[in-house]
Amino acid sequence: MSVNETAQTQATGFSPVAASLKNASVRFGSFTAIENLSLDIEEGAFYTILGPSGCGKSTMLRLVSDLIPAASGDVRIFGKTTEEARIAREFAFVFQDSTLLPWRTALANVELPLEMGRKRGVKIPLSDKSPMELLELVGLKGRENALPHELSGGMRQRVAIARALVCKPKLLLMDEPFGALDEMTRDHLNLQLLQIWKETGVTILFVTHSIPEAVFLGQKVLMLQAHPGRLKEIVDIDLPHPRQIKLRDTAPFTRYTAHLRELLETC
Ligand SMILES: Nc1ncnc2c1ncn2[C@@H]1O[C@H](COP(=O)(O)OP(=O)(O)OP(=O)(O)O)[C@@H](O)[C@H]1O
Ligand SMILES: [Mg+2]
Repeated sequence: MSVNETAQTQATGFSPVAASLKNASVRFGSFTAIENLSLDIEEGAFYTILGPSGCGKSTMLRLVSDLIPAASGDVRIFGKTTEEARIAREFAFVFQDSTLLPWRTALANVELPLEMGRKRGVKIPLSDKSPMELLELVGLKGRENALPHELSGGMRQRVAIARALVCKPKLLLMDEPFGALDEMTRDHLNLQLLQIWKETGVTILFVTHSIPEAVFLGQKVLMLQAHPGRLKEIVDIDLPHPRQIKLRDTAPFTRYTAHLRELLETC
């Protein structure tokens, strides 16, 4: 049984916790971006995050990834502080823009975190797969010597995902990674991401503006509300795995999207 299947069967019960937020608040000066956010993300789970623009989705990921501090409350990643987890490379971040180095090939971009670790003398966890195998995993076999400008937007995002996986993170934080892509490319990458999740057992927190994407990918959808950012509801997505694109045309799927659309309207 894979890690994901374990997470799926254990539901919320006694699964180990990947990320735990307790009454976490974030302030920018006198502005409260997130207020008293409490939740546990089970290890191996796939959570998607929805909410109106400005409700604090990116702020939540930045809080978890030690890019900004909590003004109050506590955030733990696999029991560590966010700083300890960052140093131990427990998590990796994939942004909307692939942020590749333009002068390095796809392969050299994937290798970059390993090189940086070596230069700094930091012992970093290594993926079970080599950088080449990770490029293969994201469907880029044969394009390893291409420079970023020679790749499409979807291919660049796939390189960014391979780069995020190279240090074997246990938690993958993704902030609208497919937001700028056309629908067909996005569908394809959604399927690929589910495959990667299944193969690696990584826990995923995935922000999106797309309700169908949130339902298609997520085991649970976190709905945040704005002013200040806080948790509105967690919706369990009880749809079978492996998921295929045609799942989106089924009645249970559209019931979830309709419910989330209603929730979003009242945020
Ligand atoms: N560095 C900052 N300084 C001041 N305010 C900030 C900063 N970063 C975010 N904010 C504010 O915090 C709130 C939450 O921002 P955040 O970027 O988390 O929203 P979001 O839910 O990701 O929105 P979107 O869906 O548009 O990406 C917004 O009101 C934003 O203006
Ligand atoms: Mg955002």
